[in-house]
Amino acid sequence: MPIIKTQTNIEVYKYLARQKDIHFLSGRSKNKNVTEFVNRCIIDKMKFGADDNVVDVGCGDGSLLAQIANQVKSVTGIVPTDEEEERLISSYKGIANLLFIKSRADSIKCLNSFANKTVCNGVMLLLTDLNEVKRAISELSRITQSGGTLWIGEVAIVDEYSGKNYGKSIIKWLWYMLINGDFLGCYNGLVKALKSKFTSQDFIIQPKKMFSIEADRFVELCILNGLELIEMKTHLTIGINGIPIELKSRMNFIFKKVKS
Ligand SMILES: C[S@@+](CC[C@H](N)C(=O)[O-])C[C@H]1O[C@@H](n2cnc3c(N)ncnc32)[C@H](O)[C@@H]1O
Repeated sequence: MPIIKTQTNIEVYKYLARQKDIHFLSGRSKNKNVTEFVNRCIIDKMKFGADDNVVDVGCGDGSLLAQIANQVKSVTGIVPTDEEEERLISSYKGIANLLFIKSRADSIKCLNSFANKTVCNGVMLLLTDLNEVKRAISELSRITQSGGTLWIGEVAIVDEYSGKNYGKSIIKWLWYMLINGDFLGCYNGLVKALKSKFTSQDFIIQPKKMFSIEADRFVELCILNGLELIEMKTHLTIGINGIPIELKSRMNFIFKKVKS
């Protein structure tokens, strides 16, 4: 009955690395269609080309990099734990220009100006505080060459846990979904909890902490680090019927690196 209560967001991914399906590393459990959709949005905007060195900081299941590897010069995925790095390396052995490096967003083990296309999606909200976010922005800027493009996506502009007072209790979590009309979520949560009781499948209870910041303040910090705002849009995801919907609590940003 592996019910695992984690203390930090990084610890969550260490455990996700041992799940049967590598897609769990995207943090979207079984919703592979959402990851495919998000990857498509990034690919549409970033316009990857044959001369690009692409770095994906917090690359999740590595699917974005694997998808574009044969269209670009090199692809590098950054993940914070040994467990994720090992899982990704063994899963994508066949792709010659794909490399994985273990490091954190606020201390990326890449040379200055290594990338001309840098992606960092769904990571800022997992960082612990403003100081770590500031260091991460500085690192994203440092590794991107002048004139290069950065996608910084799924930045939370409100705390999505606000008002959700179920803490680490599974019962309270299921009850919360039930009384808020999320019957499918409640059913899926119950199945997942029961599976972890009667099979070897882990049930990972995440810390209910996320970093959120006003969009304008986030842009200000990026500008201070030599980035110029190109586009700022509400994050799009897809609903159960496959139709794109705006997730108003998160924003996607595209920046150009202008100076060091
Ligand atoms: C929500 S997933 C997003 C994955 C992928 N970017 C996507 O959008 O599908 C978060 C990713 O950030 C990574 N991550 C979490 N904390 C991090 C940190 N401090 N530094 C770098 N990566 C981190 C996780 O390991 C995971 O790969």
